[in-house]
Amino acid sequence: MTPAKGLIVVSNRLPVVLSRNEDGWGITTGAGGLVSAMAPVLRDRGGTWVGWTGASGEHEAESLLGEFSREAGYSLKPVRLEKEDVADFYYGFANEVIWPLFHDFQSLCNFFPKYWKSYLRVNELYARAVMDSGDPEAYVWVHDYHLMHVGEMLKSMGSRRRAGFFLHIPFPPMDNYLKLPWRRRLLSALLEYDLVGFQTYRDRRNFMQSVQVLLPHVKPQGRGPVIELLLDGRKVRLGAFPISIDYRSFVRTARSPAVSGRVNELKSAMDGRRMLLAVDRLDYSKGITFRLEAFREALEKYPGLRGNVTLMQIMVPSRQEVPRYNALKQEIERLVGEINGLFSRPGWNPVQYQYRSLGREELVAYYRAASMAIVTPLRDGMNLVAKEYCACNVNRRGVLLLSEFAGAAAQLQNGAVLVNPFDREGMAQSIKEALDMPAEEARRRMDRMRDVIRKNDIFRWVDMFLLAAFSRHLDDFPPTYA
Ligand code: G6P
Repeated sequence: MTPAKGLIVVSNRLPVVLSRNEDGWGITTGAGGLVSAMAPVLRDRGGTWVGWTGASGEHEAESLLGEFSREAGYSLKPVRLEKEDVADFYYGFANEVIWPLFHDFQSLCNFFPKYWKSYLRVNELYARAVMDSGDPEAYVWVHDYHLMHVGEMLKSMGSRRRAGFFLHIPFPPMDNYLKLPWRRRLLSALLEYDLVGFQTYRDRRNFMQSVQVLLPHVKPQGRGPVIELLLDGRKVRLGAFPISIDYRSFVRTARSPAVSGRVNELKSAMDGRRMLLAVDRLDYSKGITFRLEAFREALEKYPGLRGNVTLMQIMVPSRQEVPRYNALKQEIERLVGEINGLFSRPGWNPVQYQYRSLGREELVAYYRAASMAIVTPLRDGMNLVAKEYCACNVNRRGVLLLSEFAGAAAQLQNGAVLVNPFDREGMAQSIKEALDMPAEEARRRMDRMRDVIRKNDIFRWVDMFLLAAFSRHLDDFPPTYA
């Protein structure tokens, strides 16, 4: 189900990466699932992707965007951010206010008024770019927490386009949300969209509780994945749409000869030891230090693990200009050093740590080589690493240890070993139990999870959102994502 008209996708970043080397600028397609899901829809319907190139002062690279658009079959419309806005809007409001607040880290928030002003200014720039994007009939689909005001601004600019918004991160419980100095304005802005999508029912429930406190005249109607709110004679839909991955493409990559060869190399480098794999962006919401502490606890408590398992912690650099991220990196490196200092012996380090992003085939090879994935964020909108690990587990021998605070837990609870990432002892015990799990049970659990992800892939996610945006009646809405 796609809209009858064209589509304008708006996200903080464009789906491309511009990089500079000694020969000048280069452009590559971004790696995320959103790109692979949206590209075919944009190509079919004709459309535009509005976003930031990720750097300031790269004007000379913009001719590359035109070339990319011609090949991709849809247009890219760059939004230019000056250095000051990158600091106050992106690092400031998005990543020092909304990100920590929505992930339940309110003590890390810096509620500076200049951040809020910059956020409004930049949202206006994005809205202006949408207004300049031709097609007045196109449906506007805005993504994520950086751009919650774009819908309201479009209206104030006289746009009559329909617009929907999807929040990729969690929506916090009411008591946390109420701490935001601009809480009412933000909530009202979100309700200017025709459809607001969340990852899970829990996020939508949290949102509704804040609406009921701050805007008590707004009345909800209906139940199920999509409900409606009545406000000032207008209907706004709210839905739960768990994002996913391109399942089939991951399975294909996992089965490719190149990856199989690499899996053999990784396994022989492990020398018969079992690999416990953790892959995260370097972010405090991912619970990396909590996981390391739990692993240390497991090594202390179960000496049989020593020499037989290795925690492979892969950490992808992220938001390096936010001070908290740098401090966290040091904390993690200290902890890795401490654990290795305590338990290493000739030929074995309990933790292997890589601080870089891996190419897709290399990542898939790690997924396949690992006996277990430990995905234990303290809070996460969805967590696609959990889904990618299952998709790539073509031999169905792996076990997924998953935080109950990841959005993915709602769909994968029948197959994953769920853990509370704050409970160090409980997590240590779960690691041990998961390692001892009989192969038959591991396979049964993995089959269940793969089944859910195969049926609810990224393409279904796009379809569900657009169906909710365009169907006349909510009765035709499919009831389940399990
Ligand atoms: C999360 C957010 C995305 C964001 C990504 C990477 O997944 O939901 O919107 O793009 O992190 O973060 P960055 O700040 O590098 O864009």
